[in-house]
Amino acid sequence: MKRKMEFEFSAGLRWTHWLRAIAIFVLTVTGFYLAYVFVVPEPSNEPVLFLNAKFRMWHEIAGFLLIAVTIFKLYLFCIDRISANERVGFLDALSPKIWIQQIKYYLFIGEHPTLRGVYNPLQFIAYIGLYAMVVLISLTGLILYVHAYQAGGIGGALYDYMRPIEAMMGGLAMVREIHHITMWGILIFVPVHIYMAIFNSIMGKEGAIDAIISGYRFNKPHQKH
Ligand code: HEM
Repeated sequence: MKRKMEFEFSAGLRWTHWLRAIAIFVLTVTGFYLAYVFVVPEPSNEPVLFLNAKFRMWHEIAGFLLIAVTIFKLYLFCIDRISANERVGFLDALSPKIWIQQIKYYLFIGEHPTLRGVYNPLQFIAYIGLYAMVVLISLTGLILYVHAYQAGGIGGALYDYMRPIEAMMGGLAMVREIHHITMWGILIFVPVHIYMAIFNSIMGKEGAIDAIISGYRFNKPHQKH
């Protein structure tokens, strides 16, 4: 069947996607260590080990990368011309007809609905959920951060704003708990997301995964995608 090559995802969208994937991977590995120290260096009488500090440092570097990328991606979503195809996904998500068609498709009892945007309603809601979790984990991460770096820099600038939010969340121990539980929310999202990407790529045969790498997708002529 002849396919139409269509530009779907901008360079900004693709870069932010993969930078976020790397950041989340680093944050999960280092976060597990911070929660439960699973590797201990050879003991030494010299004060040269600092393994915990090193894990913490990489966690914070990846944390600020995640925050920066998320802010830029939100900016693209709201403003960018190419990202208009993401924004109209909201209209598809308001249509009960498209919801039903999409669920039927996933149950192998119907055709894929014709969408106005690039995301189907289930996808759109899942991504909103992911963003809510990323905002929550970033906020709780910043609260944990300002307690160690309140003397100056970003920590000093944010300290007074973070303390009331910390109190609202029930104190620092609760903040840490929320931070940790939110990680599990993200860890549930990731394998489902990868499974759905592979599922749609194989079932749709339109290069659904290619689009997040090259930007292009290969649509069948009868439907938008
Ligand atoms: C996907 C994103 C993230 C994951 C999976 C994650 C995971 C974790 C985990 C599991 C812990 C240990 C909590 C515990 O003791 O049970 C932790 C601690 C921490 N996280 Fe994150 N985190 C993420 C994002 C962030 C961000 C955006 C920041 C902000 C800079 C941040 C800053 C911190 C800090 C400062 C600590 C405390 C370290 C300590 O107590 O020594 N995290 N994180």
